[in-house]
Amino acid sequence: MHLLLSLCVVWLLPMAWTLEGNSLPRRIISYQQDNVDLFQEEGVFNYSTMLLREDLGLLVIGAREAVYAVDLHNVSIKFASVKWEATQAQTDDCGNKGKDPETECKNYIRVLHEMGDNRMYVCGTNAFDPQCDFMSYADGTLTLENKAEDGKGKCPFDPYQKFASLMVDDDLYSATSMDFLGSKSALLRSLGVSIRTDETERLLKQPNFVSLVHIPESVNSATGDDDKVYLFFSETAVEYDYYNKVVVSRVARVCKGDLGGVWRLPKKWTSFLKARLECPILESWRLAYIIQDAYRWCDPFKPWTDCLIFTIFTPQDASDLSAVCVYNMLDISRVFTEGKYKTPVTVEIKETEESFVKWVMYSGEVPFPRPGACIDDAARKANINQTLDLPDKTLLFVKEKPLMDNVIQPVGKKPSLVRKGATFTRIIVNQVQAADDRMYHVMFIGTENGTVVKAVNYDGEMFIIEELHVFKSPEAIKILRFSIVTDQLYAGSDSGVVQIPVATCDRSSTCIDCVLNRDPYCGWDKETGKCVALSQLQKKLIQSVQDGDASLCPKSAPNTPVNQSIWVGGNLKLHCTNPSIHAATIWEQDGRTLSPTGRHYFLKDDLLIINTSDSDAGLYSCLSVERSKTNEYTSTLAEYQVNVASSAIAPNVAPNDAPNDAPNDAPNDAPNDAPTVAPNVAPNVVGLYAAIALFVIAFLGLLSWNVYNGHFTCIRRNERT
Ligand SMILES: *[C@@H]1O[C@H](CO)[C@@H](O)[C@H](O)[C@H]1NC(C)=O
Ligand SMILES: *[C@@H]1O[C@H](CO)[C@@H](O)[C@H](O)[C@H]1NC(C)=O
Ligand SMILES: *[C@@H]1O[C@H](CO)[C@@H](O)[C@H](O)[C@H]1NC(C)=O
Ligand SMILES: *[C@@H]1O[C@H](CO)[C@@H](O)[C@H](O)[C@H]1NC(C)=O
Repeated sequence: MHLLLSLCVVWLLPMAWTLEGNSLPRRIISYQQDNVDLFQEEGVFNYSTMLLREDLGLLVIGAREAVYAVDLHNVSIKFASVKWEATQAQTDDCGNKGKDPETECKNYIRVLHEMGDNRMYVCGTNAFDPQCDFMSYADGTLTLENKAEDGKGKCPFDPYQKFASLMVDDDLYSATSMDFLGSKSALLRSLGVSIRTDETERLLKQPNFVSLVHIPESVNSATGDDDKVYLFFSETAVEYDYYNKVVVSRVARVCKGDLGGVWRLPKKWTSFLKARLECPILESWRLAYIIQDAYRWCDPFKPWTDCLIFTIFTPQDASDLSAVCVYNMLDISRVFTEGKYKTPVTVEIKETEESFVKWVMYSGEVPFPRPGACIDDAARKANINQTLDLPDKTLLFVKEKPLMDNVIQPVGKKPSLVRKGATFTRIIVNQVQAADDRMYHVMFIGTENGTVVKAVNYDGEMFIIEELHVFKSPEAIKILRFSIVTDQLYAGSDSGVVQIPVATCDRSSTCIDCVLNRDPYCGWDKETGKCVALSQLQKKLIQSVQDGDASLCPKSAPNTPVNQSIWVGGNLKLHCTNPSIHAATIWEQDGRTLSPTGRHYFLKDDLLIINTSDSDAGLYSCLSVERSKTNEYTSTLAEYQVNVASSAIAPNVAPNDAPNDAPNDAPNDAPNDAPTVAPNVAPNVVGLYAAIALFVIAFLGLLSWNVYNGHFTCIRRNERT
C-alpha cells in the first residue's frame, strides 16, 4: 500500500505540467451525427467483437446474444443477423451459482474468426458455460450450425474478463481463464492438435491477457525456423522479492509446430518462454505501467524482422496518463533466441529459518537443442524432427526456467506517445506515404471516453493530430479495426459500432491550418484552394509533416470585413473560432493588440465588449498565432468593421450581410449567421461573478470539511515512510 501512497498528488502536479505541451491534440472534434455512420440495434449491447470479411464485403459484429453482418462500406446497413441466447436451463444454473441473471448470465459473443473453408468460428460466454459453433454466411443469411462445442479455454466464462484469441491455419490459439471461478488460466491451442500451458504459477500467475499475434518467422528462414505465436499479457511477478504483489507486463511465445513432449510435458507447450516488457514512462514512477493492448504492424513487402508491435500502457494507480510503447519484433525475438534465462533459487534466512524463492540470472550450461527454441535445421540434423523427439534435459530446462533474464525495451528506450486525459483502451496503426515520399505510422487510439486519438511520432517527436468524439456519450472503445478495402476505421463500444474515415482533410479551410495539422493523409491543393486527401496522382500538394513548414502556402486572399453596428452603451460580441488548440488567438483593433479589460472579455470563441463607446469603432481582426518546429505563423481568421452609432435610436442591425464563406467558417460549430449583437449580456456577467463566488465558497467549505475529517492523510503518511 505504501507504494500507492507515495504517489501523492503533491508531486504529480509538476510532472503533469511538463507533459502539457505536446500531449494535447491539435484539435478536438466534438460528436456530430454526420461525422460517423453508426450501427446499433434496439436493446442489444456490448459490440466488442469484430471480424472483417473483406472477401464478402462484410463486417461481422459479435454483441450480446447476437451476431450481425453489416455492409463493410456502410455499417449502418445491416445485411443479416443471428440470435444466440443461453438456454433457460443454462441461465438458471448460472443464476443459482450466484451470478446476475440479467447481465452475467447472458451469452456474450467473444470469439469470431475466419476458417480456411470460408466458414467462421464463433464462441460466447453462454451464461458462464462457454460454447463455440461454426457459422456461415450465404444468400444474405448468417447461419449457426448448432454444434455446441465446448468453449472452455477458448472463451472466458466471465464476460468482464480480459482474454485473447487468434486463428492461424485453422488452429485456434486462445489465452483465457479455464474455469467458473476464473482462477485457472492457460494459453491453449485447439481445433487442431491440442496443446496447452502446464498448470503452474511459473508460467502464468494471475494473468490478464491482452493480445495474441502471429509472426511468420518460417518465411525465407535461413535456419529452417518455425512460425511463432506471441502472447502479450500482464501478471504477478515472480522475480521480485518484494512483500507486495508486483504486476509486470510480459510477452510470451510458442512455436506453431509445437506438439508437446512424450513423457515429460505431454500435450503441453515445450516452447513456452516469456520475458518482461518495459515501457518507461517517467523515471520517478514506482508502480510500473501495465500493458492493455498490442497491435502487430508488418509491412507486407518486408521480412518479419521489420514488424513492429504497438502497445498501450496505462497506470496502476489513478493517474490520467496513458502511453504508447513500440517494440521492434527483432528485439523481442532476440531475447528468446539469444538471451539469458532466469532460474529460481531458494534462499534460506538463517535467523528466522524461513526460505523464499529468488529468480536470478542462470549462468550455467544450456542444453542442445536450446530450450524453448523451435525445431530448426540444426535440430533436424541431430535427428530431432519434432518436439516429441526433444531430449529430456531440454524439456526439463524449459519447464523450470520459462522466464528470460533480459528485459525488452521499446524503440528509442522511451514511449512513442504519452498523453494526459481519457485513458487509452485500444490501438491500431496504419502506414501512409506522405508527400515527402517517406512512410509514416499513424496511430489510432481508442479511449475510455468514446474518442479516437490520431497521432504520429515524427522521428521521436510526438504529435497528436486530433481527438475525435465518435460516440455521443463518453463510453469506452472496446475494439478497433481497419479495412484497407474501404480505408475506414471501425470502433465498437457497449452501445454500438461506428465507422470513420482515416482522414477528413476538409476540416481545414486554410492552407496554414492544413499544413500545421501535419496530417500525412492531407495536403493543400493550390489549384482548388482546398485541403484534400493525398493520392498517388496528386503529389504536388503542399505538406510538411516533419516540420510543419507552411512557408510555401500562398498568401491568402484578404478577408472581407463583416460589418457590425452597435449603439453607445450596448454590448458587442464578435465570433472567431481558432481551429487549433496549439495556437493562440489574438484580437486587434485597427492594428493594436487588445488585452482583457473590465469591458473586454476574451471568451473561447468570442470577443465580448460591454458598454460600448465611440472609441470601440474600427476594424477588428482575429488572428491565430501558432508555433511549429520551423516558424511561427500568424493568420487572420476573421475581420469585423464595427460602427458605433451615438444616437439614442438603435441602428439598423443587419446581421446577415456576412458572406456565406466567411474565412472563419470553422467546420465544427460555426454559426451560419454572422456574429450578432448581444444587447443583454451584462446580467450574464453578473451571473458569472455570482457563480464564481458560490464556487469559491463551496470549495473552501469542502476543503475545511476534508481537513476536519483527516482526508489528507496521504501527505502525512507519506512523510512517515
Ligand atoms: C454491456 O453493456 C452494458 C450497457 O452499456 C454495460 O452496462 C455492461 O457493463 C456491458 N457488459 C460487459 C460485459 O461489457
Ligand atoms: C450509410 O447509410 C445510411 C442509411 O442508409 C445513409 O444515411 C448514409 O448516408 C450512408 N453513409 C455513407 C457514407 O454512404
Ligand atoms: C527425421 O527425418 C529424417 C528425414 O526425413 C529421417 O531420416 C529420420 O529418420 C527422422 N528422425 C526421426 C527420429 O524420426
Ligand atoms: C470525456 O468526455 C466528456 C464529454 O464528452 C468531457 O466532458 C470529459 O472532460 C472527458 N473526460 C476526459 C477525461 O477527457
